[in-house]
Amino acid sequence: MNATLIEGRRLRLRRANVTDIGYIMALQYAPENLKFIVPFDEDYHRQIIADGTRKLNIIIEEIDTGTAAGYFMLRELDTPCAEFTHVVIGRKGLGYGREALNLLLDWTFAVKKFHRVWIDCMEHNEIALHLYERAGFVREGLLREYMLTDGAWENLVVFGMLSREYSALRPT
Ligand SMILES: CC(C)(COP(=O)(O)OP(=O)(O)OC[C@H]1O[C@@H](n2cnc3c(N)ncnc32)[C@H](O)[C@@H]1OP(=O)(O)O)[C@@H](O)C(=O)NCCC(=O)NCCS
Repeated sequence: MNATLIEGRRLRLRRANVTDIGYIMALQYAPENLKFIVPFDEDYHRQIIADGTRKLNIIIEEIDTGTAAGYFMLRELDTPCAEFTHVVIGRKGLGYGREALNLLLDWTFAVKKFHRVWIDCMEHNEIALHLYERAGFVREGLLREYMLTDGAWENLVVFGMLSREYSALRPT
């Protein structure tokens, strides 16, 4: 099976394999990422990679160097409505988050024909909120005091995008 899902100007998205699990675990637990995501254990990542249909771990890779620059985790791929569960960039501030997210939207809507994609985000995660809004996601709601983090309740912002909204953003 070809591991490459889609390529852009600087980045490609490819299916993760078991040799990527160490990279994914290190990114999850890096303090600058851990404060914004809920990590999964190694066994769960192994199951996702073995499954590869309903859930998917995707490595974001620099085309020029072949070096990993981050990863995505997707769930609910056996429904018309995919969930983007983890969006994590290792090499931050280079525009990779924006480019990789646009590639992921191209793959989910233009290639895989999902009807809708959605993601949730901690309300204080200003960079991610900006990233999703700039990519064209619509703020759909707020899950109030949904997560208890270090003794404080956090709100989660829910973002969604429909296939027709994606098409309007990328007229052919
Ligand atoms: C959120 C994240 C994915 C963004 O990836 P990135 O590659 O660093 O972001 P980019 O360089 O593509 O920048 C995206 C936008 O955010 C802005 N931005 C990036 N870093 C910033 C910073 N430190 N301060 C303010 N704005 C910033 C950029 O200016 C850009 O805005 P623009 O499109 O209007 O020019 C990355 O910071 C990350 O992995 N964070 C930790 C994990 C996380 O929070 N994941 C999301 C969970 S919901």
